[in-house]
Amino acid sequence: MASVLVLGANGRLGRASVLAFASAGWQVTAQLRRAPRASLPAGVRQVQCDALDLATLAAAGAGADVIVNALNPDYTQWATLLPPITAATLALAATTGATLMLPGNVYNFGNQLPAVLSEDTPFAATHPKAAQRIALEAALAHAARDRGVRSIVIRAGDFLGDAGTWLDLAMAKGLAQGRFTQMGPTDQPHAWAWLPDLAQVFVLVAERRAMLAPHAVLHVEGLTLTGAQLQQAFEAALGRPLKTKAFPWPWLRLAAPLSPMLRALFQMRYLWQRPHRLDGRRLQALLGEVPQTPLAEVVRQCIAGPGNGSAVVRT
Ligand SMILES: NC(=O)c1ccc[n+]([C@@H]2O[C@H](COP(=O)([O-])OP(=O)(O)OC[C@H]3O[C@@H](n4cnc5c(N)ncnc54)[C@H](OP(=O)(O)O)[C@@H]3O)[C@@H](O)[C@H]2O)c1
Repeated sequence: MASVLVLGANGRLGRASVLAFASAGWQVTAQLRRAPRASLPAGVRQVQCDALDLATLAAAGAGADVIVNALNPDYTQWATLLPPITAATLALAATTGATLMLPGNVYNFGNQLPAVLSEDTPFAATHPKAAQRIALEAALAHAARDRGVRSIVIRAGDFLGDAGTWLDLAMAKGLAQGRFTQMGPTDQPHAWAWLPDLAQVFVLVAERRAMLAPHAVLHVEGLTLTGAQLQQAFEAALGRPLKTKAFPWPWLRLAAPLSPMLRALFQMRYLWQRPHRLDGRRLQALLGEVPQTPLAEVVRQCIAGPGNGSAVVRT
């Protein structure tokens, strides 16, 4: 039986990955720092430790074919936390011989990102988080070349389908009051990824890992939607119109000097102002059919509750 170690199993992609790999028949070991936020499928092993605890993780991950790095350190402290976590996950992959899988994001393309993002689109370190993600992926590429550590980056848009996303924290927060919050101009396409589909992509790519280069990058097209299209999908699902409200960026800008988190979020405003979508043709060539739940169903499940009842609001 193929086996996977999921790092960050209490997180959004981490939990979705545990569920997807387990349901595909993999032996799953879930690394968490605390008790699972919701029950895990039967047969899933747990290891409770920090991601930097290499000795414990190497023992738990012995024999793993794949490691999913779904860790996400404090958003305001990537400069100091990402490098040691990256080094630790690479050391773990080197020790176990497993292929390391990483969910990439679109930060790498910088704040002047072009409208279509393919695997060949150049990176641009125009802001600190772009530089940090570029360094993270470069470390994986170098480890593949110099140390024989195999890795796969699966790049996706903003997550949908759990708590703590732009959708539940802002855009759909006022649904009960008949409001939909727009993060920017309503006609700008924005890349989204429905977590159960993305986790399914991780499984399907993991099963085909032998067909890939030692360091591979694949883009998931997911759902590309303007704010207007997303609002219309919610209106259709609810059967009533919603009043459009603009996200209070001016307030965020005012409060930003007082809060590192607000500052960090404000730096990412450009993603709502620049149209972008991920070109998923390379992934499609590998998989044939890429899992994609229809938008109406995604919205129905988002309305039913983050993570469809399996998630808790994270603080
Ligand atoms: N969110 C998005 O929209 C999005 C889009 C594209 C790509 N990504 C990427 O996908 C990855 C996962 O993101 P996510 O949103 O799923 O993350 P998340 O929900 O914020 O969860 C991250 C998990 O990492 C764990 N963690 C952080 N530092 C740790 C450490 N030192 N030791 C052990 N566990 C640690 C946290 O543990 P605790 O629960 O104990 O705090 C948490 O469960 C990140 O690389 C992110 O950049 C995210």
